[in-house]
Amino acid sequence: KVYTDYFFDEPIFDLHDGGYVPLEKVDIPDQPLNIPTALQPDKVDGNDVYYTITAQEGETQILPGAKTKTWGYNASLLGQTIVLKKGVHYHVHLVNKLPEVTTFHWHGLNVTGPIVDGGPHAPVYPGGSRDIDFTLDQPAQTDWIHPHPCPNTARQVWNGLAAAVVVTDDEEAKLPFPRNYGVDDIPVILQDRSYHDNQLDYKADYDVDGTLGKYALVNGTINGVFNVTTQKVRLRILDGSDRREWRLHFDDNHEFTQIASDGGTLPEPVKFTKLMLTCAERAEVIVDFGDKKPGDVVTLMSDNVPLMKFKIGEYAPDNTKLPEHLTTINVPEVTPGLPVTRTVMSGMDDQVRLDGKLFDMQRIDRRQKIGDTVLWDVVNTNDMDGGMIHPFHMHGCQFLVISRNGKAPYPNEHGWKDTVGVNAGETVRIAVQFTKFGVYMYHCHILEHEDTGMMAQIEAYDPNHEHKYHLISMDEM
Ligand code: C2O
Ligand code: CU
Repeated sequence: KVYTDYFFDEPIFDLHDGGYVPLEKVDIPDQPLNIPTALQPDKVDGNDVYYTITAQEGETQILPGAKTKTWGYNASLLGQTIVLKKGVHYHVHLVNKLPEVTTFHWHGLNVTGPIVDGGPHAPVYPGGSRDIDFTLDQPAQTDWIHPHPCPNTARQVWNGLAAAVVVTDDEEAKLPFPRNYGVDDIPVILQDRSYHDNQLDYKADYDVDGTLGKYALVNGTINGVFNVTTQKVRLRILDGSDRREWRLHFDDNHEFTQIASDGGTLPEPVKFTKLMLTCAERAEVIVDFGDKKPGDVVTLMSDNVPLMKFKIGEYAPDNTKLPEHLTTINVPEVTPGLPVTRTVMSGMDDQVRLDGKLFDMQRIDRRQKIGDTVLWDVVNTNDMDGGMIHPFHMHGCQFLVISRNGKAPYPNEHGWKDTVGVNAGETVRIAVQFTKFGVYMYHCHILEHEDTGMMAQIEAYDPNHEHKYHLISMDEM
């Protein structure tokens, strides 16, 4: 079966509200698509691998003429791709060369909060550094790293901080997926920006309901072109925008196959001609260009705006077939006797709230025992102006989507996720298990909503060991 719709409720696509900025086609020449290089370790010592990640200022040629002042991780914009392998112990030296405080958040990594995971309690001050270490113990997936300082996440991401994190493992390595990084396996980081004399101006473009830009960028490139040299290409698509939803399709309605969601391989591949992603969601897809010949060009679109082109070159025929069954998701049994946790996203603009409240760095909003599997009902009340989609994200776990308003989740939601788009008026039921004690954020991933305070924190606790956490206050940021 090939699906041909976006699954989400169409009337509330993000173009509903007054502040919506539609994407525009940009009248500048095509340029090679930026493929971030893979970050090299400082040192490898048996199972211990050492990296340095530096948040830095730089300049990037984005438009013709003056370069744009941008921020990045070990790069002038976005960042080098960090490749991690399950089972390895990583030591990461985090360096802040920016003129302001930042944090290094591992979105999707199952590492302890509130420090290692780099949420708002783990500031790295300008000129300073922090060292963290963790053993990677989750399956192959596409994650990302981005700043999370309260309340400046949105502006820092807008300035350019976001890098892909590629997790590999032995199970995924056996599947017939393209995995030659940069050749047939590439990140596709989707963002939108506007420029003022070639410069970013977050204040000028700011929208409390989520800042949008006129121009689409893929990996920081406008009108990027990727030269296809293999029949099949794996795209690790990330919605790295502050607010925009992407409604992806090819100009020729080419079909593509999703093989993984936020938390890794899907149980079954899902074929479609349209894919919508909300903020921070990832989808790994395989595009089979077997019906194309050298010289053909296929354009990836969002709505009616071109995002990037795939220029088909000479390729060797590739007849590998995807198995119908890719992996087995071990659905944890819901712990008996526990009530359903209900959490409510409400409002728009500066009225956004999570459970009727604004974020307080020193308030623990909930507790859940590690090892328990608890059902959460994530509610979007749709109580203003017809409402909007809020992408709900949790740190410290990957969850399973059980239902949407009591109905089956979307066909591509049968794998692990850490972010789920909740339609207006909808209740999305998810199954949540924490395996590591800590304090974790959960929030709307429209970054301006998060910064306004549509965020809360949960302590995942170990009943046999009490842990004390130093929760910093906003003044310490
Ligand atoms: Cu992608 Cu709390 O973050
Ligand atoms: Cu929101």
